[in-house]
Amino acid sequence: MDSTKLRFFAPCPRGLEGVLEQEIHDLGVPMTAKTDGGIAFQAPWSTMYWVNLKSHIASRVLWEVGQAPYRSEDDVYRAAYGLPWPDWFTPSQTIKVKVSARRCPLTSLDFVTLRIKDAVCDKFMSVRHKRPSVDRHRPNIRLDAFLDESTATFYLDTSGEPLFKRGHRVVSVEAPLRENLAAGLLRLAGWTSSDVLLDPMCGSGTIPLEAALMARRIAPGQSRSFAFERLLVHDAKRWGHLREASRLKQLAEVSAAIYASDQDPAAVKIAQRTFQGAGVAVDIRLRQSDVLALEAPAEQGVLLINPPYGVRLSRPEELDAFYPQLGDWLKQRFSGWRAYIFTGDLRVPKLIGLAPSKRTPLFNGPLECRLYEFQIVSGSMRKRIPTPTSKA
Ligand SMILES: C[S@@+](CC[C@H](N)C(=O)[O-])C[C@H]1O[C@@H](n2cnc3c(N)ncnc32)[C@H](O)[C@@H]1O
Repeated sequence: MDSTKLRFFAPCPRGLEGVLEQEIHDLGVPMTAKTDGGIAFQAPWSTMYWVNLKSHIASRVLWEVGQAPYRSEDDVYRAAYGLPWPDWFTPSQTIKVKVSARRCPLTSLDFVTLRIKDAVCDKFMSVRHKRPSVDRHRPNIRLDAFLDESTATFYLDTSGEPLFKRGHRVVSVEAPLRENLAAGLLRLAGWTSSDVLLDPMCGSGTIPLEAALMARRIAPGQSRSFAFERLLVHDAKRWGHLREASRLKQLAEVSAAIYASDQDPAAVKIAQRTFQGAGVAVDIRLRQSDVLALEAPAEQGVLLINPPYGVRLSRPEELDAFYPQLGDWLKQRFSGWRAYIFTGDLRVPKLIGLAPSKRTPLFNGPLECRLYEFQIVSGSMRKRIPTPTSKA
């Protein structure tokens, strides 16, 4: 299988397509195409293992197993029936079919989902005289289909659990960032492992954890399992070699300092346990502190802040009072630093009193957000926001 180039699609949080494409190139895949919400790429089978193991930003890696034009549900059924599913998995494995669509003329996606499931089961009945059963919660095999106005594309999900589930979270906390979004923010901020990093509102520690994994070259998927291990075409020996090669590339320590803090002692405890579980507690200097009490730990560095936002997390009037203080804190103590604020509150530049040098639109799930970049310079060089009507 490794002599042929296969087609894959790696979805990611919207807004991170550019950094995901760069990451896939860096993983040794030159043939990529950027689309809204992900990167299509062509590569040998074992490269798919490598992308699943090493990507910080992809949400999944889907293997494109077929494509056909369609006009009706029956056309989709016939196209799905025509694929050699029994070559890829067995009828004793459970399945789940997920359909997504853009400009699809069919009236019910639920009905198309049912037809695809029927086609797969009918195919197994005709070839193996046994059909797989459906498990909507923990299926062994996930099948994806994407319908545009005239073409149905079928995928087998090679990841299983989404790739942002690295297996490091000890407990769930309120509003943590997804790991791949945190990694994408670090990449958009241009952070490299030789830069000092400070996350002064670290919550459960997602950003510093991703930074430490990157700095130590610990593959995000090093200690989890993947759906490709359950496919009949899986090459366990090759996978074992790749995983071991990746483990041998891990560094014993980080080159630059990573600082993290939060005012909430419970969050600090959770972050501590998470860092320990991931084996990077020694790489992150974690403490409990109000952000405004912190001094810059170095002359230069990158600040990445994900402040509370939204009705569940904080009242708007509290944020209105907080941001001008955060702006003063940055100006007084962090000249020479690059500061990044990731928020869904588009009033932040106005409230903080600094003009962003860059604003990158991103989506945190369905929530439209921005990553604002502020170059903190001392005294007279500082640009102030001229009017309160500046656009977000
Ligand atoms: C949106 S959460 C950060 C989530 C984090 N990125 C994660 O992935 O878990 C915002 C955090 O800011 C912290 N926070 C709020 N006000 C603070 C302050 N004045 N000083 C330090 N931390 C503060 C909260 O305790 C909360 O953990």
